[in-house]
Amino acid sequence: MTQQCKTSKAIGGMGHSIKRKEDVRFVQGKGNYVDDIKLDGMLYMDIVRSPYAYAKIKKIDAEAALKIPGVVAVVTGKDLEQYNLHWMPTLMSDTQMVLPTDTVMYQAQEVAAVIATSRYAARDGREAVRVDYEPMKPVIDPFKALDPDAPVLRTDKPGKTDNHIWHWEVGDKAKTEEVFANAEVVVKEQMHIPRIHVASIETCGCVADYDKVNNHLTMYMTTQAPHAIRTVIALVAGHVGLTEEKVRVVAPDIGGGFGGKVPVYPGYVIAIAVSFLVGKPVKWIEDRSENLQADSFARDYHITAEMAGTKEGKILATRFKVLADHGYTDASANPSKFPTGMFSIATGSYDYHTAYMEADAIYTNKPPGGVAYRCSFRVTEAVHAIERMTDRFALEIGKDPAQLRFENFIKKEDFPWPSPTGWIYDSGDYEAGLRKAMDAIGYDELRKEQAEKRANGELMGIGISTFTEVVGAGPSKDFDILGIKMFDSAEIRVHPTGKAIARFGTKSQGQGHETTYAQIIAEELGIPAENIQVEEGDTDTAPYGLGTYASRSTPTAGAAAAIAARKLRDKARKIAAYLLEVSEDDLEWEPGKFFVKGAPEKAKTIQELVFAAYTNHPQGMEAGFEATHYYDPPNLTFPSGAYICVVDIDKETGGINVRRFVAIDDCGNIINPMIVQGQVHGGLTQGIAPAMYESLVYDEAGNILNGTFMDYLVPTAVESPNWETGHVITPSPHHPIGAKGVGESPTVGAPPAIANAIVDALSPYGITHLDIPITPYKVWKALKEKGAI
Ligand code: CDP
Repeated sequence: MTQQCKTSKAIGGMGHSIKRKEDVRFVQGKGNYVDDIKLDGMLYMDIVRSPYAYAKIKKIDAEAALKIPGVVAVVTGKDLEQYNLHWMPTLMSDTQMVLPTDTVMYQAQEVAAVIATSRYAARDGREAVRVDYEPMKPVIDPFKALDPDAPVLRTDKPGKTDNHIWHWEVGDKAKTEEVFANAEVVVKEQMHIPRIHVASIETCGCVADYDKVNNHLTMYMTTQAPHAIRTVIALVAGHVGLTEEKVRVVAPDIGGGFGGKVPVYPGYVIAIAVSFLVGKPVKWIEDRSENLQADSFARDYHITAEMAGTKEGKILATRFKVLADHGYTDASANPSKFPTGMFSIATGSYDYHTAYMEADAIYTNKPPGGVAYRCSFRVTEAVHAIERMTDRFALEIGKDPAQLRFENFIKKEDFPWPSPTGWIYDSGDYEAGLRKAMDAIGYDELRKEQAEKRANGELMGIGISTFTEVVGAGPSKDFDILGIKMFDSAEIRVHPTGKAIARFGTKSQGQGHETTYAQIIAEELGIPAENIQVEEGDTDTAPYGLGTYASRSTPTAGAAAAIAARKLRDKARKIAAYLLEVSEDDLEWEPGKFFVKGAPEKAKTIQELVFAAYTNHPQGMEAGFEATHYYDPPNLTFPSGAYICVVDIDKETGGINVRRFVAIDDCGNIINPMIVQGQVHGGLTQGIAPAMYESLVYDEAGNILNGTFMDYLVPTAVESPNWETGHVITPSPHHPIGAKGVGESPTVGAPPAIANAIVDALSPYGITHLDIPITPYKVWKALKEKGAI
């Protein structure tokens, strides 16, 4: 259950909490972000956005804007149309306007771009562009989008007669219906997982730098997937000469991505088009409000959730029906085969074999999406549904929710475990995780305290979430984005003096890859992590990869690093055999050296062996010490967690105080415990966010009601409780270093733990469910309605 370090602290392999290498520059203000890039002759772009959710554009008058000193151009959809650049594909193979030629489809949509010699002139120009709109009645309520009299929004799609995008289903419908029909207990809730927004510290932006002489584009941008973007640029702009060898995408330091920096936004395309046409670099940096109002949203799933079981508490089946509001276009960043991402993990951590899930996606006049906000594609929605329903079932039959979970968990000896929706869970020990969380928080004493408080009319709640995640997309047989398989890559070059540079197809946005990838290589080769430089994000130098999102970096590129290092260790063994004049079979490895079995004084260090690869290698062997690996995972990894939250609620105000929160995570073998703890702390805060604070709200006209940080509360240290963390470790059996992803577990696992705690506190008054975000007002209103106050 515990993990031993195999390397010394000086080598700094797996399990060592070495300090993050990248922080040396970050804490000194020496990070290099897109907005730090300044190029000669650079122009600045600002974007005119629509005040209406649905309107015809009658006229765009740029005359006043063009008179402002410094404004050089105003670009409209009609301008882009001439080059066939006014539309672009989304990652889900839907289509999206770059700039509209006649109709705007959501509030804050891009309408025109102003290009100027300074950022200020561009902003002044933006204010001076006059647009004549003819507003139309928008479709905002997703439940009304399919009404027969609802206007058909995507009139650009020939033959489209409704606002339906796709239908998806998985599981055994007939068998599920039968189990439900005969079950002793059926519970049902309607829930909404609200539309929220990734609010990274750094907004999105780019510098498009087209070199006319050499017909070459360098695109500096805030992207989580530089290689995929390079391919997309070549596919979209190949017809004007920007073929893939002429495009270099550079993602410099990124201040948080969380899925929001996966999509291609119109701003990027306009910047490229303008740079291409004028031959000068063009910078576009969103402001905070644009980022919040117009970038791809996350979630917005309306779920009808049902669970069937026995009176004793055995879960028999679940049924989930989803209405997915995708806004104006399906701009999700999901693997192609999975329009609902990995929502089908919603059967959870429980041992039952009957389930059915279906989803319908629809168009509305809202910004498009939905991105996987720090989540492996809709897992947050899935986990919320199953964990809420597990508590709901426990409440219905009057059983302690921890006890009900123990009685239903998949047992550790039953892995690999096939789920009723087609996943093969790799490993886990759910019972150990929950036991550890209960011991840490003092579960039994808390239940006693709760009983006493309830007798006095006080509101205290305890909420549990024992979730299973599915991360590491993914095996190439099932996973691709726009046809590109979702492998990932590592290239290691060890220099003659034994120091290395390693490059990856992923891209850190703050996760600490420069440190942890070096640790993986240190583990495998015994070269100290401090001597291994890690680079990501430049498509001219890094091997091709699909990027960093959905906690896939460790499961894919981390595995590639280990295997590339093992290729090098094999080569080192051959060189050692040659230098020590023994057979390869007579050699043994310990981190950092090969030695002759039984004669440990006869040894060659990895540094000596690398040096020999350049100076004294066996005849017939390729010189040098470099290896590359493209890793195609055989399966996904299935991290899990047991979270327990305790809340106290003020009856008079509805005020919620999260008193304790214990998070026990299982991400398999841990590379850097300190980094993992940091990931969990940040993720838990992004879990309390939708549970209690964040939700984008629109009125009937499609106006966003909380489009600035004045009204959209992103929790900070002030709102965060003291997170108490811990681990159980069940290594992934198919991953070369036994690691699973971790970045998203806390964001996924926290919301239902908090919601369950609040509902538990309110349950004596007959309250069985509240939609997140659960605000004091919602609590107060529910108590009032039930006559509790
Ligand atoms: O793809 P992303 O980097 O966002 O997620 P991840 O693979 O879960 O990794 C997040 C950070 O935690 C990286 O620095 C990982 O190397 C580190 N990590 C770790 O130290 N041990 C694990 N078992 C999993 C991740």
